[in-house]
Amino acid sequence: MFDRFERRIDYLRISVTDRCNLACAYCRPMPAPPPAPQEALLSFEEIAAFAACAAELGIRKIRLTGGEPLLRREIPVLVSMLSSIPKIADLSMTTNGLLLPRFAAELKAAGLRRVNVSLDTVDPERFRDLTRGGDVREVFFGIEAALAAGLTPVKINCVVAESPAEPDAEAVSRWCSHRGLTPRFIPRMDLSEGRFGVVHGGTGGDCRRCNRLRLTSTGLLKPCLFDDLSLDIRALGHREALLRAAAGKPERGTLGTTHAFHSIGG
Ligand code: 5AD
Repeated sequence: MFDRFERRIDYLRISVTDRCNLACAYCRPMPAPPPAPQEALLSFEEIAAFAACAAELGIRKIRLTGGEPLLRREIPVLVSMLSSIPKIADLSMTTNGLLLPRFAAELKAAGLRRVNVSLDTVDPERFRDLTRGGDVREVFFGIEAALAAGLTPVKINCVVAESPAEPDAEAVSRWCSHRGLTPRFIPRMDLSEGRFGVVHGGTGGDCRRCNRLRLTSTGLLKPCLFDDLSLDIRALGHREALLRAAAGKPERGTLGTTHAFHSIGG
């Protein structure tokens, strides 16, 4: 599938829940917004049918996000449904890692290939403040579990205020290099201000190369984080929503006012 600007659209990010077990300052608004009601969430059958349709149209890579995707009940079942779609070459997940000790082996067996784990600081107090109560040691255990299960390469997502040269980011970088892990530095974005930048060590944030579509947990397909166009896959049907998303994908992002990071999953 190509969009109007000859970008090949082959990457679908699927948010499976808007709930999270952390509340990172740059992601989750306070007071916490109420979670989407259970009946509004796409079922696993709907997600798998949508992914199969997307694969027919050229999607080759799927990433599960949240909220925190491991909070979605029976998530390994969804992973096995998605991993059995033949044209999907890469199935991955972005997670905060807290629940990986419990799920890593099961996810691997279900066909998940790899995980990206968010880690913005390795300092316990800074981590607790930034995540509003989290314990960084649980992330370390989660990363170990992912490595032990073979969910590799494990990539580390580190959100930075300005640059990878700031102290927290440099400490994450050193922590990663001792363990043979690759950090990716993601500039802190603000949807409503239209502030975004290129991911250091990754592929996001460069509109000219953008190959993505995003599906929210309640079935809205968004062709761009920084744009309000969204297509309701239940109302339009899967194929029509995908074709309209590709056709309507803007040349570059400007402002996104209708959705927040916590419900799109970055
Ligand atoms: N800016 C940049 N990235 C963000 N994420 C969430 N909120 C933001 C934001 N404001 C992304 C990060 C994080 C993942 C869970 O979501 O990549 O690791």
